[in-house]
Amino acid sequence: MSNAKVVIHPEDEIGVISPRVYGHFAEHLGRCCYDGLWTGDKSYNVEKDNGWRADAVQAFKEMPVPLLRWPGGCYADHYHWRDGIGNPASRPQRLGMSCGETTLDTNSIGTDEFLYLCEKIGADAYLAGNMGSGTPQEMCDWLEYCNTKIETTIAKERIANGRNEPWNVPFWGVGNENWGCGGNFTAKQYGLEYKRFATMLRHVDPSAQLVTCGWDVMEWNKELIETLKSHMDLVDHYSIHRYWSAGSAVNFSEDDYYNMIVESEKTEHLILTVGKMLADATDGKRFVGVALDEWGVWSPEANLDANYYMETTMRDAIAAAITFEGFHRQCKVLSMANIAQISNVLQASIQTSGESMWKTPTYYAFKMYAPHQGATAVVCTIDDAHFRLPNRQTGLSATASKATNGATTVSVVNRHMDKDVTVDISGCGGSTCNAVLLSSEAPNSVNSAAEPDKVTLKPVDLNTSVDGTWTVTLPAHSICSITIS
Ligand code: AHR
Repeated sequence: MSNAKVVIHPEDEIGVISPRVYGHFAEHLGRCCYDGLWTGDKSYNVEKDNGWRADAVQAFKEMPVPLLRWPGGCYADHYHWRDGIGNPASRPQRLGMSCGETTLDTNSIGTDEFLYLCEKIGADAYLAGNMGSGTPQEMCDWLEYCNTKIETTIAKERIANGRNEPWNVPFWGVGNENWGCGGNFTAKQYGLEYKRFATMLRHVDPSAQLVTCGWDVMEWNKELIETLKSHMDLVDHYSIHRYWSAGSAVNFSEDDYYNMIVESEKTEHLILTVGKMLADATDGKRFVGVALDEWGVWSPEANLDANYYMETTMRDAIAAAITFEGFHRQCKVLSMANIAQISNVLQASIQTSGESMWKTPTYYAFKMYAPHQGATAVVCTIDDAHFRLPNRQTGLSATASKATNGATTVSVVNRHMDKDVTVDISGCGGSTCNAVLLSSEAPNSVNSAAEPDKVTLKPVDLNTSVDGTWTVTLPAHSICSITIS
């Protein structure tokens, strides 16, 4: 077995990791919302909490979910919020449209239902507004419905619908992917429209934080920023999306396995590049956060015919863990991130089949990195000279943070497909430690209705040596999170 070392440098602080970089995304697409989260319209024998699956609600509380984006995605620029308020029996039946899908949309899940879910699981809500087929007035009215304390006619509707206090939704997206499904705008057109929408939204609720639609195409970003330059005060967060894949979801080759690692690492560079561009645009005088509000593995199986469903393996959990490492290194510019999607679509955290619900390996990656939320990221260095991947890249990666209670959490990934490694962790002292391991028989192991706990977290014992070095053995393709006090 090979050896490697991780040294934590607690004095070398990078910045505070916003809990919101561990956010999720619920779109009306495939079986994400209806069926995956909401069984209110179904006769399934599952416990329901106001229409939501109680098993999913419990899973999200335990994960946890600090931020939840809804209702799209591409769905957002067709969505009219008034269709989803009031008596569910009287709500219009519409075409639900996103990513080539057209389905019957009952509007059973509307604003009050979604915001109830957020409150229940302790998530900040992030609503994506409709610029593609909506108007500034429509979005302003939605903001007023959710956030105003003043008893306007619109607020009285909210009260009549059962919610006395404002919902105080903090985050508002002004459109989604408006360079594509959200209206095929040019950067200049979108920028001009954005100014109009954002100016009006600021009047309704100046505390609402607005998210502008960027792209991973830098030409678009340059032109958009140029258009917005004199009004950067209207931009609080700047959205980018990144999806990647490497071969098939489950039947991937060894090359695909290692390519997935390379692809996962690229996300950090995108965040860094866009972060620099925003800092330049404001001359560093105003912080505009990068909002990676859609990200994750999107394997070819997750297509329209499959309702965008794919099996989500241990390899995907490793992809998430590597992405989190980049989030921590870029925590000064990354203000939020939302993996796509929370249930049954793409790199989902939970999956369902009728009455069964199970947690995917990605769910457990989120859960084991939870101690990093709100903690201060610190530098850690790695010596893995004797533990390189076949492509000579690093075989071991790690991220560490200090919580306000003084505990240090270090999360380590054994990236090797088939080699175990013994890791010595030093630099943070400590006398007690709590460690959990996520490992699997094979990198393509998955959980399912038949085997819901095939890949799950297990406690792991660590040995401590006299000089305060903690030693842990990581099986091939595994992740370990260790909290030392
Ligand atoms: O998450 C699926 C889709 O991917 C979203 O609707 C869209 O924003 C992106 O292209």
